[in-house]
Amino acid sequence: MRHTSATVKRRTAAGAALAVAGLLTACGPVRVAGGGQVAQPLHVVEHNAIDFHTDEALLPSKVPQAGHGREVYSRKVNGKSCAGCHGDQGQPSVAGAPDFSQPDWIRSKTPLELEQFLRTGPGHDYGVTLTLQERWDVVCWCRHLAVNMDEVRETATGRFGKNCNVCHGNKGFGNGFLAPTMQPLPRNLTDFPTWGIHRSDQEIYDNIWYGVHWSAMPPWRGTLQPQEVWQIVDFIRAQQYAPPEN
Ligand code: HEC
Ligand code: HEC
Repeated sequence: MRHTSATVKRRTAAGAALAVAGLLTACGPVRVAGGGQVAQPLHVVEHNAIDFHTDEALLPSKVPQAGHGREVYSRKVNGKSCAGCHGDQGQPSVAGAPDFSQPDWIRSKTPLELEQFLRTGPGHDYGVTLTLQERWDVVCWCRHLAVNMDEVRETATGRFGKNCNVCHGNKGFGNGFLAPTMQPLPRNLTDFPTWGIHRSDQEIYDNIWYGVHWSAMPPWRGTLQPQEVWQIVDFIRAQQYAPPEN
């Protein structure tokens, strides 16, 4: 596929790997709250080196804005607004449309798939009538209809801080205090253009539930309840979008 093809690059910089291995050995294996363990240096596989090649021209030029998305959602384009079919609060008035007011519909979609649907999907075709940024902003608003981002930030901040902070940092930037000892590095979970748009909620959930093999990312099943993991997924998403300003 032209827009989303993913290729995996293995770095050959043995020097860098050795330097990190040295660091890891110096610190010894680090145990974390989830019962996970930092991968042994010999088994390092660089998951972080997954390179997503997205057509630059499809990336949002700034963080998608829910507030502006709301305005796009109620704007009439060719005589009809999104709200006209999908409902002010996301409950559709036309047959076949998903219920945006429920989180379920959005879980299996990557943000890029939604933007693509708006651009070229049957009956949508907003490739010309909306700008690229407007399409991203309205994707962000649809998400906010499904999961209120302000509430999410409040409930999950503490849980993320307690369990994920040491590696991913408080806000998810991937800069926790243990991060420098790891290869691959903890993911920057706020990075929308090169990571977030390519992952569905379900995929993010699975990564947290099962952990990531050959990396320091531990599985959280057994430590966190499914409901708690979903809250964290929603928290991660909320870090990738700008909330609706009042
Ligand atoms: C004329 C009615 C109508 C309008 C206007 C309309 N939609 Fe839809 N939309 C639908 C229907 C019907 C579906 C389900 C069709 C399908 O999945 O092929 C749908 C599906 C969707 C989906 C789901 C895609 C998926 O992969 O499941 C999204 C997202 C969406 N619309 C967003 C929007 C946005 C944003 C706007 C305004 C910019 C909009 N729609 C305007 C009727 C409409
Ligand atoms: C001991 C360190 C450590 C802890 C604690 C940790 N992570 Fe990770 N995490 C990592 C590393 C390292 C990676 C990179 C793996 C890779 O490159 O694929 C990662 C990757 C991820 C990914 C991205 C997977 C992908 O590539 O799509 C998600 C999502 C994630 N972590 C969420 C969490 C959450 C949520 C928590 C807390 C509940 C958490 N992590 C706790 C080290 C950690």
